[in-house]
Amino acid sequence: MRNILVTGGAGFIGSNFVRMVLAEQPDCLVVNLDKLTYAGNLENLAEYLEHERHKFVHGDIGDAALVERLIDEYAIDAIVNFAAESHVDRSITGPKIFIDTNVSGTLTLLEAARDKNISRFVQVSTDEVYGSLGSEGMFTEQTPLSPNSPYSASKASADHLVCAFGHTFGLPYNITRCSNNYGQYQFPEKLIPLMINNAVNDKDLPVYGDGMYVRDWLYVYDHCTAIWRVLEKAPSGEIYNVGGCNEKPNLEVIRLILDHLGKPDSLIKYVKDRPGHDRRYAIDASKMIDELDWRPSVTFEEGIVKTMDWYLSNTTWLANVVSGDYQKYYETMYSGR
Ligand code: NAD
Ligand code: DAU
Repeated sequence: MRNILVTGGAGFIGSNFVRMVLAEQPDCLVVNLDKLTYAGNLENLAEYLEHERHKFVHGDIGDAALVERLIDEYAIDAIVNFAAESHVDRSITGPKIFIDTNVSGTLTLLEAARDKNISRFVQVSTDEVYGSLGSEGMFTEQTPLSPNSPYSASKASADHLVCAFGHTFGLPYNITRCSNNYGQYQFPEKLIPLMINNAVNDKDLPVYGDGMYVRDWLYVYDHCTAIWRVLEKAPSGEIYNVGGCNEKPNLEVIRLILDHLGKPDSLIKYVKDRPGHDRRYAIDASKMIDELDWRPSVTFEEGIVKTMDWYLSNTTWLANVVSGDYQKYYETMYSGR
């Protein structure tokens, strides 16, 4: 049996990863530590909460005593760190919690991993640590870190700490840097689920700036298979870019959603831009493909249809996440734009 500590496993990508591991890896026990912030949702794991190989623990990655106890109690041999504050817009209005969780919280996990001789620490990072691209080129693992938002600066700090723990203390580690994910269970503060939810409800679709910002979209299941592949196969100390070769301007994604849902383009509303908005991300994932034999399983055209159909069939999940605090968030974030 392989016992892994997954942090942030009630969030979007973490819950997809937990579901995938429980379904596909019969020899793996998952201890899932999550603080259940606004982005953490146990409904993402509904059928798996009582699963015999899944132990959910409500807690903070910054709680050193708790992390150490879990490592001992479950004989943990690897940690996969998804836990983070993940939304760029929120990092602009309130950066402090991003430092607390993404930097200090990661440091707490690293200290526990070092002290308990964990055999592998996988840090789930982002392509945003590389900064922004012009119209040409792609991020490789050698691209210098140049983060632009408080969110990406906190993730880059965490990446540096992970490498420093490898270099200084010999902690075995990997870092994955992935492009934009989409798919089931994504909280509707992010572009794709926000646009689906608004379009379904005939609400305006708020497009930042000219809508020609480019993101490189990866279906969430494919990100999860990449992380598992790294955990299983990667030599310690290696960093891997993960991406789907699916560069799209935001407007193209939004028009595709409107088209699939049979809604008019007139719902598009151009609003004030995000401060410091990165123009373009594009990932060169050839190291993952050549060295770890990983490939995305779906094209963007297949994945986006699966995603829209999932949101259309999971109206209770969506209704629950957009009730209460989400309404206040939406009002605050979008009323002045
Ligand atoms: P998310 O916001 O959906 O989920 C984050 C999860 O972390 C939530 O369940 C939350 O409750 C939990 N959490 C937050 N603070 C915590 C703390 N202090 N202790 C324990 N748990 C805590 O995020 P996501 O989109 O699933 O992203 C997961 C990871 O992947 C993040 O590290 C993010 O930086 C990275 N990433 C995300 C994307 C993307 O497109 N969403 C792309 C690349 C990398
Ligand atoms: O690249 C990986 C990153 O992708 C992850 O590290 C982050 O955790 C994740 O949130 C995501 O960051 P982005 O800022 O790229 O994602 P977001 O969905 O917030 O925005 C995608 C694009 O859509 C971006 O150009 C901003 C634009 N946008 C977003 C929202 C929410 C809009 O035009 N309108 C909106 O209402």
